[in-house]
Amino acid sequence: MTTLETTIAMTNTKLPRPQPAAPREYPVVDAIRAGEGFTPEIHEEILEQDSVVQISGFSLWYGQSRALFDISMPIPRGKVTALVGPSGCGKSTLLRSVNRLNDLVEGVRVQGDISLNGEPVYGPSVDVIDLRKRLGMVFQKPNPFPMSIFENVIYPLRIDGEKRRRVLEDACKNALQKAALLDEVADRLHESATALSGGQQQRLCIARAIVAEPEVLLLDEPCSALDPIATLRIEDLIREIAESYTVLIVTHNMQQATRVSEATAFMYLGRLVEFGPTEQIFQTPRLAETEDYVTGRFG
Ligand SMILES: Nc1ncnc2c1ncn2[C@@H]1O[C@H](COP(=O)(O)OP(=O)(O)O)[C@@H](O)[C@H]1O
Ligand SMILES: [Mg+2]
Repeated sequence: MTTLETTIAMTNTKLPRPQPAAPREYPVVDAIRAGEGFTPEIHEEILEQDSVVQISGFSLWYGQSRALFDISMPIPRGKVTALVGPSGCGKSTLLRSVNRLNDLVEGVRVQGDISLNGEPVYGPSVDVIDLRKRLGMVFQKPNPFPMSIFENVIYPLRIDGEKRRRVLEDACKNALQKAALLDEVADRLHESATALSGGQQQRLCIARAIVAEPEVLLLDEPCSALDPIATLRIEDLIREIAESYTVLIVTHNMQQATRVSEATAFMYLGRLVEFGPTEQIFQTPRLAETEDYVTGRFG
């Protein structure tokens, strides 16, 4: 052996072998897998706030397949709340339960309650069309209608029967302004919306979602089809809009949740697992499941 080889051999025998990390325990996940109950961690700060939506013991089935399990959570008023969790954990289903968009799916059954400003969402006398007007919604892929920018934005007012030109024009400008799009389109309001870039189209969809002054804005991964620059613009916009609206946003992007939201709910396998102020969920989560999910080690 050369001196070098000897040194390496000696060093090798002295160095402790790296130990595999002790397996993490996931009590909540174990309970879910074992079909046992568990109590989600809802931080006191969330419960102390005024809420605009209250979800109470809510479950949903698509035919035989259960997608949501006994979810209870308030949505704080005037804040941005992010729903995070692995793909298929029920985030979109929960979002679409608030405006009863799931009603359109054949074979859907629900149990439990959701209320919007104290009024039941699933009551027998609820007019679903009226209910949906109280909630603006934006989807993953921008979906401008094949009509002008102007007609897109004021669409909700048109179907509501508004005909006064002045009212429509003011509402259109106001919504475009709030959606940070007015400067870019002011001189072409009567041109087709489908010619806009993806990011502009999504801001247009946000303008359309807020033109009728909804009580809550529901956003389902609104940036997932956009490039990074367009994404940052939408994130800025969400923070601005949150000064006047309550926003409930689904995102699979953890950085986005920390950038835009004040509260974060972690969902897993159709359950609410932990819900708290965003800073606490990311910096001092109470459950190992939450910590490992938000740091990318789980899920
Ligand atoms: N329209 C539907 N019909 C049947 N099953 C559905 C439908 N939409 C979603 N699901 C199922 O419900 C579960 C939750 O889905 P989803 O709410 O889309 O999750 P996420 O948004 O967290 O990815 C999944 O198992 C999914 O396959
Ligand atoms: Mg989804």
